[in-house]
Amino acid sequence: MQQEAKHKKTLHLKIAFVVIFSTFSPFILGLFIHLTPLFILLVAAVSASCSIAILLWVLRPLGNLIESTKTFSDGNLNHRIDIRSGDEFEEAGNSFNLMAEKLSKTIQSMESERAIAIAEKNKFDEILSSIIDGIIALDFNKNIIFLNKASEQLTGYNQTEVQGKSIDQVIHLFSDTDEILSKTYCRENFNQTAKLIGKMGKQTKVKTITTQVSTTVQTNLSCIIILHDLSREEELEQMKLDFVSMASHELKTPLTSIVGYLSVFLEENQKNISKESFNLLNKAFTAAKQLQTLITNLLNVNKIEREQLSVSPEPTDHLAILAKVVDDLRSLATQKSIVLNLSHPAQTLPKVLADPIRLSEVVTNLVANAINYTNPGGKVEIAVKVSPVEVETVVSDTGIGIPKEAIPHLFNKFFRVSNTEQKANKGTGLGLYISKSIIEKLHGKIWVESEPGKGSKFLFTLPVVTQSSGILDSRQFTSQAFQSGTLNY
Ligand SMILES: Nc1ncnc2c1ncn2[C@@H]1O[C@H](COP(=O)(O)OP(=O)(O)OP(=O)(O)O)[C@@H](O)[C@H]1O
Ligand SMILES: [Mg+2]
Repeated sequence: MQQEAKHKKTLHLKIAFVVIFSTFSPFILGLFIHLTPLFILLVAAVSASCSIAILLWVLRPLGNLIESTKTFSDGNLNHRIDIRSGDEFEEAGNSFNLMAEKLSKTIQSMESERAIAIAEKNKFDEILSSIIDGIIALDFNKNIIFLNKASEQLTGYNQTEVQGKSIDQVIHLFSDTDEILSKTYCRENFNQTAKLIGKMGKQTKVKTITTQVSTTVQTNLSCIIILHDLSREEELEQMKLDFVSMASHELKTPLTSIVGYLSVFLEENQKNISKESFNLLNKAFTAAKQLQTLITNLLNVNKIEREQLSVSPEPTDHLAILAKVVDDLRSLATQKSIVLNLSHPAQTLPKVLADPIRLSEVVTNLVANAINYTNPGGKVEIAVKVSPVEVETVVSDTGIGIPKEAIPHLFNKFFRVSNTEQKANKGTGLGLYISKSIIEKLHGKIWVESEPGKGSKFLFTLPVVTQSSGILDSRQFTSQAFQSGTLNY
């Protein structure tokens, strides 16, 4: 501080000396040496010139200061001033150097922060553009802020074309029937499969997942839409279905011949061949029939997945179907020492509106399951209950039962209860899945009641044929069958 004060005084003193010297020197000289006025004027002129020279010399650092400021402001941040005048100019120079030092440090750190921010942004952009799902970010007015590369491909628009435009003008998402607008899908945890229509009517099936980002206005980011392209997956799924269908059909024909020939041979030659040969051929016959059931199941699943499982409903004698199935499975029950019983209802059973072949498949699976999952000595009972609108069928057994946690998955494709008791039985886990699809196609319901160790009850309903509903429902079923494809089995 003392140094600074000294500097200030020095400049003042220098200027004061110059002023005093230039003003009084001619007069003092004139006073002591008796000079002529002309000579005094000459001395005054010389003294003024000396004063100007001294002033210029004193103020010389000012030019240096101005020059340095310009150089610094032109971007040369390393430029520093070297003034050693010992006055305010030296102080100003030192202050300038201090300021330049701090400023260049601040600018350098800002630049490195900027470089980091740019690198981060580039990394983020790279990540977003390499994501195979489409990502669209919207602001609070549902206008597009950002569109990644995958979205550009899905929608057909590029970022510059749509930036700032309302999302509802750019892409159109359709559920089966209606258009889904942004006010519907821009909300927390929206997750739906939809048809996306983009530029020039470009259509893609997508899974749309939306999340609300933030409620703060500063970010102006309201909603992120993720579009997952399903077309490739659908293509693969279609290829898989085609392969299963083709392979099953190719296997079905020779297998039908094998089962047929073996059945005829065994029937005609039971007495002509040895017991050992008969047993061996009978085992081959049973295995071939199991394979046939598996292939039929695979074909059925294939049709369900293609939405081509069709039914041909007609007024059906439900009791006759139940009796036929019980008859067919009687030997299986007897082999396991299981009592198989069909209880006839007290009143006459009205006809149900059902497809006899499909209904028979359902009942066969339920009764076969009941026998398979009941230990020897148990009981399987089939009963029917009638109401004015429907017939309810109950297949109950005294078998091993089903754990509570497995019940919600029981009608899923390939689901099998995984405990050791159940694993002892062979199966593919398709029977109940197919049964459910058939019963629902026939406008019925199917469900289960069971407890481990206490047996199981499988129940399903079918609509009864009334005078008016029979014709009406038949039409409804027929049109449904035609819509979904050919009436094939
Ligand atoms: N009556 C029953 N008692 C106990 N468990 C059962 C019964 N019925 C079905 N289940 C369980 O449900 C699973 C699915 O049955 P589903 O009929 O779909 O397949 P599966 O019998 O294993 O094979 P398949 O495709 O040959 O019918 C069975 O694996 C079994 O674990
Ligand atoms: Mg089964």
